Amino acid sequence: MTPYLVTPLLIVMAAGALQAQVQVSSPNGRNRVTVAVREGRAWYSVERDGRALLLPSGLGFEFRGAPRLRDQLQLADTARRSHDEWWTQPWGEVARVRDHHNELAVTFAETGAPWRRFIVRFRVFDDGVGFRYEFPAQGGIGDFEITDELTEFSLADDARAWWIPSNRPRMDRSEMLYSSGPISLLDSVQTPLTMELRDGRTFMVIHEAHLEDYARMNLAGRRMENRTLRVALAAHSDGIKVRGRAPFATPWRTIQVADRAADLAPSLIGLNLNPPSRITDTGWIRPMKYVGIWWGMHINTMTWGSGPRHGATTANAKRYIDFAAANNIGGVLVEGWNTGWDGDWIANRNAFSFTQAYPDYDLAEVARYARERGVRLIVHNETSGGIQNYERQLDSAFALYRSLGLDAIKTGYVTDTTAEGHSHWSQFMVRHYRRVIEAAARNGIMVDVHEPVHDTGERRTWPNMMTREGARGQEYNAWGGEGGNPPEHETILFFTRLLAGPMDFTPGIFDILIERGSGRPRRPEEARVRTTLAKQLALYVAIYSPMQMAADLPENYERQPAFQFIRDVAVDWDTTRVIEGRIGDYVIVARRERGGQSWFIGAITDEEARTFEVPLSFLAPGRRYVAEIYADGPGANWLTNPLPVTITRRNVTSATRLRISMAPGGGQAVRIRPA
Ligand code: NOJ
Ligand code: CA
Repeated sequence: MTPYLVTPLLIVMAAGALQAQVQVSSPNGRNRVTVAVREGRAWYSVERDGRALLLPSGLGFEFRGAPRLRDQLQLADTARRSHDEWWTQPWGEVARVRDHHNELAVTFAETGAPWRRFIVRFRVFDDGVGFRYEFPAQGGIGDFEITDELTEFSLADDARAWWIPSNRPRMDRSEMLYSSGPISLLDSVQTPLTMELRDGRTFMVIHEAHLEDYARMNLAGRRMENRTLRVALAAHSDGIKVRGRAPFATPWRTIQVADRAADLAPSLIGLNLNPPSRITDTGWIRPMKYVGIWWGMHINTMTWGSGPRHGATTANAKRYIDFAAANNIGGVLVEGWNTGWDGDWIANRNAFSFTQAYPDYDLAEVARYARERGVRLIVHNETSGGIQNYERQLDSAFALYRSLGLDAIKTGYVTDTTAEGHSHWSQFMVRHYRRVIEAAARNGIMVDVHEPVHDTGERRTWPNMMTREGARGQEYNAWGGEGGNPPEHETILFFTRLLAGPMDFTPGIFDILIERGSGRPRRPEEARVRTTLAKQLALYVAIYSPMQMAADLPENYERQPAFQFIRDVAVDWDTTRVIEGRIGDYVIVARRERGGQSWFIGAITDEEARTFEVPLSFLAPGRRYVAEIYADGPGANWLTNPLPVTITRRNVTSATRLRISMAPGGGQAVRIRPA
């Protein structure tokens, strides 16, 4: 391949006087994309401050029953546009988002039969680059079947990546621990893929945005020449990746760029590349904290199915509702309320009913009780991948919930492949997840998805798409047997998975050694949380989710002064500042609550103790505040002594430097409220 970036001359073609190379830069001029045609093939490359990030990287497609769209291209047309707009999120990590970019749409045309044309639209922002393919309606492309997308990311640097694999068949396949290592050694990985360049001053994240009717993108490096990652699309059960019909647009491929790891979050580029909200009145969509009949099943003191330890009884649900109402917690999740859980609920997936409750659970009565106390019930819909079974019941179930005034569900897809043989990441499932969001929106229902497809910014268009799992959450600590999550886990999640969007991690375990649990069949002696208590509090701020669980059993919060932080912490934010962070080591985040003047700080560390002096310069100057500090207590250590928490109060102003000392595996949570 010719390294065209060093070619000083622009080649001018005869017809239409089109250049064979075009460029577009970000508004601040730092990021630049070059698009070129060489030897009949289309390439793009990305620079920052004049230094290559991506070397010329290929574009194109393979189809079934049609020639490859790649090898006989010319640059046929270009169009430019600039855009600068502020928009407001109904909820989020920040209230106001600026969409400021320069756009270049390049039309490529085949120079021989079947004479197809396609557009690659680039949008270059100060925080990165997005591009997508568009197939305009035309003779050469009608109905099509994509067997491969040939998009490449040719890295200029053997960057260090934090990754989870995409090619290991196993249940709920994003629920893995991260590894890190040089790009050149990667095999097949999921996105967001976060990388640190060797200069230590440039961070890059490859991901996608606006995945609506396409297959999920993974990255394959196996046949890696020159550190080139290729798009690897999940397949339908028959091997086809994507079925479509022109006119058609793919999701955006995004390359987020920052000078510091801390500047990667909050990640907004993906939201800017999604269409605006389709829900006009979003007043009913409200972030919340919640408790649930849930952890008991994971530590084996309750069951989902019927029997003497059935968790979802009317009496139990009312106890949780009372607890929520008394503690400034907005919602209660109830799992195991509906029939279908008895026996092997993964194998029996088509037996789940989404309307019929077990005899000891009176859904209407629980709904009434919750409403009376101003608590919202979150209805659990575990499908086990029985998609047709779920879709058949979707309308009647949602209509029932609506009639009872229930406005939130948690869905689940525990299985390797669906009952119909599809991967969670296939176009089939991408369509299904959307269908659920849209049906929920029609019925005034908010959605929390477990075992989801990865987040590509759906919440901008459908703000009832609240949060999802899609990573290894707290539940792994309950089970033992796989070592649970190590102390560094959340300090990696923050810079990887969380850049895609909110995560229902379910923090707040106070019974850290799970002494109330009766152990799961795997290795009960390993079932514990690798954390200090203060770190569990800090996670409410560090791990963003508009639905944030207080995951432990209510009895474990009794007589616990530290629980006050969970009562007080906000779930919706005006502003987010990542003060400092190093991937896999620590992160310190400050957020101001939406519509209020209080700030919250969450600081978390890996297995090392760390101390920081944090300037509170983000506070309003001249104003007096009280800081309520929940710090690791004397001798705290995740392994040997996880429980000590010291709670102190002090007056602070924007001139204060706040000392944040964290124990090994620890953290610190701070509420700063106006005095
Ligand atoms: C896995 C989910 O992550 C968990 O939250 C849920 O309790 C179980 N599936 C059962 O649906
Ligand atoms: Ca899960």
